[in-house]
Amino acid sequence: MADDLDTLRADIEAALAGAADLRALDAVRVAALGKSGQVTGLLKGLGALPPEERRARGAEVNVLKGEVERALETRRATLEAAALDARLAAERLDVSLPPRAAAPAGPEAGSIHPISRTMEELIALFGAMGFAVAEGPDIEGDWHNFSALNIPEHHPARQDHDTFYLTAPEGGRRPVLRTHTSPVQIRTMLAQEPPIRVIVPGRTWRADHDATHSPMFHQVEGLVIGRGIHMGHLKGTLVDFLRAFFGIADLPVRFRASYFPFTEPSMEVDIGWSRRTGELGQGGDWLEILGSGMVHPKVLANAGIDPRAWQGFAFGMGIERITMLKHGIPDLRPFYEADLRWLRHYATSPLSPFTLHDAA
Ligand code: DAH
Repeated sequence: MADDLDTLRADIEAALAGAADLRALDAVRVAALGKSGQVTGLLKGLGALPPEERRARGAEVNVLKGEVERALETRRATLEAAALDARLAAERLDVSLPPRAAAPAGPEAGSIHPISRTMEELIALFGAMGFAVAEGPDIEGDWHNFSALNIPEHHPARQDHDTFYLTAPEGGRRPVLRTHTSPVQIRTMLAQEPPIRVIVPGRTWRADHDATHSPMFHQVEGLVIGRGIHMGHLKGTLVDFLRAFFGIADLPVRFRASYFPFTEPSMEVDIGWSRRTGELGQGGDWLEILGSGMVHPKVLANAGIDPRAWQGFAFGMGIERITMLKHGIPDLRPFYEADLRWLRHYATSPLSPFTLHDAA
């Protein structure tokens, strides 16, 4: 091979050996094979040679080009492996370390998961409106989860819920993993005398899995029972809550007629946002955010409350959904993956719990 090609090859090899990271490597690639690179320049120059010389020289330059390409690839693989090793070393966790006596400050102190944080916010905001917290079991009876809520045996809502069924006890009905927090409406009404004002944050289950659905997720239910409770109470409560939760004082809120078996009338609630940018509060589009309605007289009666004496409203929403919207989280799955990098970004410090001042 011609001397000038040998010199060039040696220069490029030296530059490759000296490239300490992927960015430096790319600079070497551009200098050799880029549009005005040295090897490219030689290839372009072939056209000016007489035909017999062009053939021999062309073959040599192409051999050089192939060598340079392979050397670049080898170096890239080495640098990529080194970068991965460095990252693994930097993110190494010693899970065998004993717990520390006093919580250290900073990101390693442990942090509040965004779902827990939203629950704290729900409890604080509804607490200020006089709501207590109620709970119920994850494993429910068919009656609490469906029948008492006016969802009869062959009602399509039973299919809509993609229910996880458990094995039936001898002679009995199959228990279910509760498909919503609504059965706690029934449990609360059976356990306490009205007036009632509760929210029910908790786990719920449906056989569904993609970027916005998980087989286990969380809902919050709300239930208010009192004398003379009407739709104005429902609307005022939800508008106040949504504006405080999202921190947007003039958040547009729309109530849209809908259907749920356990409420009459039923309404879906939408908030204003921009479909294009995802920004909440402006943009002229509507986003459905929760279901609500006046508690159906049959549901009151099923739970032992006289519907002629008492009225109420109820609502239910997805906790992951409102958390994703509030914080611009695009994918549901990392909520349950315990990935410390995700948690460092989205979790909050246990030393700054939510207070009503945060919502003001
Ligand atoms: N339980 C419903 C669901 O999971 C949500 C819901 C709608 C709850 C309307 C309510 C309500 O309390 O009034 O889809």
